[in-house]
Amino acid sequence: MTTSTASTTEYTNTRVLISKIPEGVSPHKDHFKTITVTETKPVLEEGSVFVKNIIFSLDPYIRHDFPPGTTQTPVIGFGIAKVLLSSNASFPVGTTFFGNLPWETYTTLPAAALALVVPLQLDPELPLSVYNGVLGTSGFTVWDSLRRVADLKAGETIYISSAAGTLGQVAGQLAKRKGLRVIGSAGSDEKVAFLTSTLGFDAAFNYKTQDPRSALTSAVGPAGLDIYYDLVFDSTLETVLDLLNPHGRIISVGIVAAHQGQPIAAPKNLINILMKQLRFEGYTVYENFDHWGLFCEEMTPLVKSGEIKYAETVVEGGVDVVVETYLNVMKGVYKGKVSVLTGAADL
Ligand SMILES: NC(=O)c1ccc[n+]([C@@H]2O[C@H](COP(=O)([O-])OP(=O)(O)OC[C@H]3O[C@@H](n4cnc5c(N)ncnc54)[C@H](OP(=O)(O)O)[C@@H]3O)[C@@H](O)[C@H]2O)c1
Repeated sequence: MTTSTASTTEYTNTRVLISKIPEGVSPHKDHFKTITVTETKPVLEEGSVFVKNIIFSLDPYIRHDFPPGTTQTPVIGFGIAKVLLSSNASFPVGTTFFGNLPWETYTTLPAAALALVVPLQLDPELPLSVYNGVLGTSGFTVWDSLRRVADLKAGETIYISSAAGTLGQVAGQLAKRKGLRVIGSAGSDEKVAFLTSTLGFDAAFNYKTQDPRSALTSAVGPAGLDIYYDLVFDSTLETVLDLLNPHGRIISVGIVAAHQGQPIAAPKNLINILMKQLRFEGYTVYENFDHWGLFCEEMTPLVKSGEIKYAETVVEGGVDVVVETYLNVMKGVYKGKVSVLTGAADL
């Protein structure tokens, strides 16, 4: 076993537990409980590692991963960890990886959990947070789903919901680079202005202050809509089914409305799928990581050069501020990826 230079056997660990399951409501602070405990440095089983969780990615889906009926277990989300102690030759001390991590400062991960993580080659010229967002699974989800499922064609029109969010920002810019006309919606005038003036969207509207059906209909115009990149899964689907051109596509990637406890209402005009020969296809990233290397190769230079822009929020304060920050994510307080830094990667 390789070890870090830390000599004390005890350390303090702060951890967020599920306190109550949010049933049909947006999560609030009573659903979480933060504790601080003193623990002893582990004696590692073969293949396991002891890590510092150095940055958390606060994603809307997290509340959906609360196991039914379970409380007092750690909340788990995506994030980046650095190996402090190792008994796994593939993950020596100092390795940094992205994966599922409990909301706690330090974690011991068995070999089985390490099979699901993505080791990172960090570019020293880029902030760590980009590996949670535009160069992490969020960026990869968009890059891969547009490539595999959306069948983007220059001259077509695409509409993206939650467009100022992490995935929406990337989706709009990649579609623009392919020569599409890009329309987005977001929940504030400031976000709408960001979409058109900073990210180059052709049109955008505030779905909270404008009627989404008339705003989208007028943004689409007589050319009609070819692709809906859906990150929300709400009643907008019904509008889109009316506006899509023959052979249009709906790419279902996110369910932000359901994360907020909103019921999912089936559109009444599904017959359009048949009448217009539409394609309505879901995409999940989990079984699609085979092109991760190509994604890094293509996207890293675009992000470094500023050709792909991103807005993100990095909050300091570690595990103590994770819950409050997550609740703010759900209220739409931030633009783009929200990360929480936990401080130096040591004991
Ligand atoms: N399929 C996959 O493999 C995959 C992978 C990664 C992520 N996802 C999913 O993709 C979706 C977007 O992820 P993201 O990280 O980019 O999140 P995000 O868009 O940054 O989500 C937060 C934003 O959602 C918007 N929002 C909140 N409630 C809303 C509502 N009721 N209706 C419309 N918008 C609402 C808010 O922005 P406004 O101020 O604009 O309302 C908020 O800032 C999530 O559902 C996520 O789970 C799927």
